[in-house]
Amino acid sequence: MTPSIRTSLLALTCLACLGVAPGGIRARSQQEEGRPPQDRVLSMFMQAKLDHSKDVLEGLTIGDFEQIVRGAEALRQLAENELWRVNPDITYTRYTEEFIRLTEALEEEGREKNIDGATLNYVNLTINCVNCHKFVRDRRVTFREPETLRR
Ligand code: HEC
Repeated sequence: MTPSIRTSLLALTCLACLGVAPGGIRARSQQEEGRPPQDRVLSMFMQAKLDHSKDVLEGLTIGDFEQIVRGAEALRQLAENELWRVNPDITYTRYTEEFIRLTEALEEEGREKNIDGATLNYVNLTINCVNCHKFVRDRRVTFREPETLRR
């Protein structure tokens, strides 16, 4: 074996150790594709929150109260869906209860054409989103444990 081949072999081995070899990258994407179907369903379900909250924001900015009410209603219905309950943890439950309370208030303010109240509640709702997500990330309450997800 010539020294240069030996050097490249050594370099390849090191890359493999660091997980940067092409094989390492392929393994990761295969893992993504192999994610259990309920994770993908969950992902789409959760993503809908963003769509509906954008609708509410649009409604607030153009003064379309029907759109605010529809968006808030759709958000509340998501929170009442079984898929939302990825974890029985009390903190998660509290964030969920707060989310439902805020979406109900938003619905009502939309019906009353109370733009200032609805805007304030939209901000509160956004804070609730971020806080629950911080909690979910810190505690890793979901995703890798299908058994936990089904509960
Ligand atoms: C009570 C907790 C909770 C609240 C409140 C909450 N979420 Fe989530 N959200 C989750 C969980 C749990 C996931 C799934 C995380 C995972 O896939 O591991 C998630 C995932 C998401 C995702 C990623 C979906 C994906 O996989 O692509 C988006 C986007 C999202 N939420 C938006 C929102 C928005 C917008 C709000 C507020 C209007 C909100 N969420 C409020 C718990 C919450």
